Amino acid sequence: MLVRRLILRQFRNIRSADLAFGPGTVIFYGENGAGKTNLIEAIALLALGKSFRAARDAAWRMWGTEETLLRAEVETARGRETLELRLVGEEKTARAGGLPVPRLADFVGRLGIVLFVPDDVELVGGPPAVRRRFFDLELSQRWPRYLYHLSRYHKILLQRNRLLKSDGDPATLGRLLEAYDPLLAESAAPIVRARARFVDHLRPYAEAAYRALAGGREALRLEYVSGSGLAGASLAGEEAALRAALLKRFEAGRATDVRRRQTLTGPHRDDLTIALDGHPAEGHASQGQRRSIALALKLAAARVAEAWTGEAPVVLLDDVLSELDERRQRAFLTLLGEQGQAFLTVADRRGLEALRPGAQLFSVTAGAVRPAPPGGAADGNGQEERG
Ligand SMILES: Nc1ncnc2c1ncn2[C@@H]1O[C@H](COP(=O)(O)OP(=O)(O)OP(=O)(O)O)[C@@H](O)[C@H]1O
Ligand SMILES: [Mg+2]
Repeated sequence: MLVRRLILRQFRNIRSADLAFGPGTVIFYGENGAGKTNLIEAIALLALGKSFRAARDAAWRMWGTEETLLRAEVETARGRETLELRLVGEEKTARAGGLPVPRLADFVGRLGIVLFVPDDVELVGGPPAVRRRFFDLELSQRWPRYLYHLSRYHKILLQRNRLLKSDGDPATLGRLLEAYDPLLAESAAPIVRARARFVDHLRPYAEAAYRALAGGREALRLEYVSGSGLAGASLAGEEAALRAALLKRFEAGRATDVRRRQTLTGPHRDDLTIALDGHPAEGHASQGQRRSIALALKLAAARVAEAWTGEAPVVLLDDVLSELDERRQRAFLTLLGEQGQAFLTVADRRGLEALRPGAQLFSVTAGAVRPAPPGGAADGNGQEERG
């Protein structure tokens, strides 16, 4: 999958941009606050329909303006398609191939991405919710039904928890829960199965990517942990059997749930354990190791997406190189070279061309984005001159 062209109007600090890209590595460089992350955010928005760093759409409209436009020409196995998001006042509209897409869920995933932002280092050592979000972001893009099951599951869970918090006597509560649990199991099964299969596919790629990044020094090991107390091959197996097993778990947990007044079993408590050389990475891994693990997970997710959909997703990497030593940078850029197209932000372009010859460079200065000629700018430090 490729982003061939990106057009932005009044998006954050970018008043107007019209950029053409080829396959390979695209690098945005510029000073802090120049607008590099904004460019990554714009591409991600066209893939996900919402921003990864603002809950409210109004945040990405340029201050003092009324209308924002994001448009990308993307090339997929299906051919070329124009994706467009427009924000007028509070109203966001999506179009694909020139036609309105009324439901945002139908817009999501037309452009497949794998996104890495600095906060993703929280995948290692952060709360389990961060790792569940990783599952959800990847799976909802590759498999639209996943999002349907997930939102249904959370709706039922919310109702079940409301009931548990109500004042009913335990016997009545237990009986009422009986009605909820088959519904909960029905939605939980495809979620659990998708996550288990995802980790099974992710594992060899992530382990190999980590080995390459770490120069073979430590071995990474991943394990899906079911919050439903289930384990083994059945997790990724037949859905009907899994549904029955989950229902049993919900039933078995009912008395405890009534006592603790919340649902303690289910995929909302899932996790991914990450170990280096047999020790949990959480609380042991160094900063550089955590970052390398997070990167390995993301690169592996791109490979899984490619295996599942037949197309390599576009990889978006905000600010990753600065934290890696030169050997890891080189290993990382080599791994990246095996991807179809990747967008990278860096503060300083120095040394980059040696590391990644043939990369397409763009300078970003106070919201102005320009293709930069290879070979470096005249000012010697690789930054575009101000003024
Ligand atoms: N809605 C908006 N309208 C106008 N400008 C905005 C808006 N939202 C953010 N900005 C500006 O965009 C800039 C931030 O851009 P961005 O986060 O892309 O910087 P960056 O180049 O990634 O910097 P760094 O290297 O520090 O990560 C800031 O100057 C901020 O004031
Ligand atoms: Mg940034």
